[in-house]
Amino acid sequence: MQTSSHKKKLVIGNWKMNGSSVANASLLRSLLPVISRFESVETAICPPFPYLTTVADLLDDSDVSLGAQNLSTHLSGAHTGEVSASMLQDIGCRYVLVGHSERRALYAEDDELVAKKFATALRAGLIPVLCVGETLAQRQGGETEAVVTQQLSAVLKAVGIQDLVKSVIAYEPVWAIGTGETATPEQAQAVHRHIREWLAEQDRPAATDCRILYGGSVKAENAKQLFDQPDIDGGLIGGASLDAMSFAAICWAAQTAPAAEPIAI
Ligand code: 13P
Repeated sequence: MQTSSHKKKLVIGNWKMNGSSVANASLLRSLLPVISRFESVETAICPPFPYLTTVADLLDDSDVSLGAQNLSTHLSGAHTGEVSASMLQDIGCRYVLVGHSERRALYAEDDELVAKKFATALRAGLIPVLCVGETLAQRQGGETEAVVTQQLSAVLKAVGIQDLVKSVIAYEPVWAIGTGETATPEQAQAVHRHIREWLAEQDRPAATDCRILYGGSVKAENAKQLFDQPDIDGGLIGGASLDAMSFAAICWAAQTAPAAEPIAI
């Protein structure tokens, strides 16, 4: 029997294309004193690019990590409008989101590009947060596991299992993002379990250590039931991360959720 380790839960706020200098400072002024008391949960914030450095300064005395929402596959040079992995690393990012469904759907990022971004992030010393998830039509067609496996396989093929499990995986069903409709804890757990079993087929010990977050309309009201699931290691939070007290309540739910129990894979 393999055992899940002692992982701290991880809660990441994805601000998407929201915020302003004034609003960000006000949000963090309310948020940081509260969540800095939560020692059993790891937290991170992913602001839009223009605010990364000022948010980095505001986070400086806290344990909250900085993340970016996107990166270029190119290392430097004539790529107007792009931001490189080394720049993100340089200004203090720990995480970078890769393959978010909004980028897959609205900016035509396919599995191959996502895998390249993943590899580029890792090479620069960033931790990619690899987002996977199915659309409503795919769920209704019974394709959820196949879709998620396909998205993971593209990255596995590019970097191998040892690098894949250095990342964080975020299961974000597209139909639950920004819709107010959350996957039930059982639906989310089933997919997380599938992901962990798939990882275990590649490398058993690594599978137990890899953090798998849930994202999609996580709110203060539903976070605890989600985080109580044995294979849910935290959350990737959109809308609710823009409100200090909502995000703090979600972090608190992660702080008080049971540590992952040893489970057989
Ligand atoms: P919401 O929490 O707003 O549904 O967004 C989820 C998400 O896309 C986080 O990356």
